[in-house]
Parts: sequence; C-alpha cells; structure tokens
Amino acid sequence: MKMFRKLSLTTMTALALSAGAVHAAGAEAEITNYDFPFEGPFGSFDTNQLQRGLKVYTQICSACHGMEYVAFRTLSDEHGPALPEDQMRAYAENFEIFDPALDDGLGDYRPATPADHYPESSLANAPDLSLMAKSRAGFHGPYGTGISQFINGMGGAEYIASLMTGYHEEPECALEMDVPMDGYYNVAFANGGFPDECKDEHGHYTVPGSWISMAPPLYGDDIDFDDGTEATLEQSAKDVAAFLMWTAEPKMMARKQAGLTGVVFLSLLAALLYLTNKKLWAPHKKRVEDE
Ligand code: HEC
Repeated sequence: MKMFRKLSLTTMTALALSAGAVHAAGAEAEITNYDFPFEGPFGSFDTNQLQRGLKVYTQICSACHGMEYVAFRTLSDEHGPALPEDQMRAYAENFEIFDPALDDGLGDYRPATPADHYPESSLANAPDLSLMAKSRAGFHGPYGTGISQFINGMGGAEYIASLMTGYHEEPECALEMDVPMDGYYNVAFANGGFPDECKDEHGHYTVPGSWISMAPPLYGDDIDFDDGTEATLEQSAKDVAAFLMWTAEPKMMARKQAGLTGVVFLSLLAALLYLTNKKLWAPHKKRVEDE
C-alpha cells in the first residue's frame, strides 16, 4: 500500500511536471468564470436568457455559423427557449433550406418548417455551433492551475462567453512586427497563430491567447432585447453562450433531475440496508454482550 502510494505520488509529480512544461510552451487562455443559472445541481436554464441568446445567434452569428444538429421545433421545448408554437413556425420560415426533391429532382430552396434543422455554416471555415459548448473546455484540471474542472465543470459556456469578450488591443510585442499577424488578437483563444516576437528566448509565450480568424462579432449594443435587458457586450456574450449550452445539451435539466432522483433513491436504500443489517446482527451482538 505504502509502495503504491509512493509510486503514484512520483507518477503524479512527473505528470504535473510534464503538464507544466507543455503549458509553458503553448498559449495560455484567459477564461472568466462567468455565472450561469444552469450551474450547480439545482440550476436550470433561464427561458429569457435563452430567448436573448437565440436573438444574438440569429442576428449575428448565423451570418457565418450553422447549427445543423438543431431542429427548429425544439425552440418550443419547455426547458429551452420555449417559443410559442406559432412564433417558432414563423421563425423557421426565415431560413431557406435546400430541398433536393423540389423542381422535379433538380432541387431548390424553400422556407424551413419546424421539422427542419438549421442550415450548415455558410462560411466554410466557421465551425458549426450546435455542439460547440460541449466540444470546448474553458477550464482544465482537475487540479491544474487556475480554475479546475473538478469544481467548475468543463466550462464550455464560460469559454464561448470569454471568447466573445476576449478581443484586446494587440500586445506590444506584436506591434514591432514587419508583417502584421493575420487575424485578431484574442486572450481566450489558444489555438491560433502566435508570433515568435511574443515568445521569450526559451520559446515561452509572454502574452495570453493567440490570433483568431473570426472578427469580433459583438461590441455591445448590437441587439435590441425584447425583455428590456441592456445589451452590453458581456450580457450578449453570456446570453449567446447560455443559448449554445442549451443547443449542445438540451436535456441537461432532465439529466440533473435523474441524478437527484438517483441520489435520493440510493440514500433511502442505504438507510434500509443499515437498518436490516442492524436487525440481522442484533441477536448475535446480544449473545456476545451476555457472555
Ligand atoms: C463573419 C463571420 C463570423 C461571424 C459573424 C461569427 N463568427 Fe464565429 N467564427 C468565424 C470563423 C471564421 C471562425 C474560425 C476561427 C479560427 O479558427 O481562427 C469562428 C470560430 C468561432 C468559434 C470557435 C472558436 C474555437 O475555439 O475554435 C466560436 C465558439 C464562435 N466562432 C462563436 C461565434 C459566436 C457566438 C458568434 C455570434 C455572436 C460568431 N461566432 C459570429 C466566423 C464568424
């Protein structure tokens, strides 16, 4: 046992060291731990926030990004944006879907119906956003530096919101370059281009983030929210991130509830087993005490 502990400690140290080394050589992302109403065991999606996020996606992001795994009818889901049926139907009709059966098999565009999915991305290098909130992690861990996944979860929504608010002026080191970097400097984006001018003599990155090819999509005051919420940059960023969390995991509420039911059920079972065990052993225990 002792041996095992020693071994695992050594392995852990080695892992920690190598992780540290990898970290130092790559870009580091600055992620803000924004609060979302769906966090925690009792959290749930906020319908108003999802409707605001839907509006941000529709008016801004959908110009480039598709959501081909999301069907329009789900916008009426009770735990989703909960659009009334007629509104959802009218909303779908704003999108054009290519239907290969139309025009005698030549195919043609028609307005979308509730059964259709959103179109795919219209800009080739803009990734589909349906599952984005689950395919990116804002937090790393479990015991890494900064905010750990162990306590805060994956942080997909935090990542998207931080990406929206992460556009900064280019750092000083990049201004000295003869040929400017392609793209836009973003402190939350770790996978983009990074100039040698911003690395030190050991190859360590001296500034967070990297250069992304998406121009800043949000500036603040881009949207008129129907519920009167002020559309600051941070508000719109959080709302679209919450909406994309819902598209990526529409059944989150059901999953949480199943989890809670499981905990309650197992607690009851444990209590019953404890009592049964006590009762079964009681006569034997008594005999020992009598002796
Ligand atoms: C003008 C086109 C355009 C618009 C509008 C746009 N994007 Fe993008 N987006 C891109 C492109 C291109 C990329 C790929 C960037 C790269 O990999 O360098 C991208 C990448 C992303 C990524 C993935 C980043 C990663 O980690 O790989 C997310 C998330 C994203 N966009 C969210 C949004 C949201 C949310 C909106 C609306 C508020 C939006 N985008 C609006 C073009 C756009």
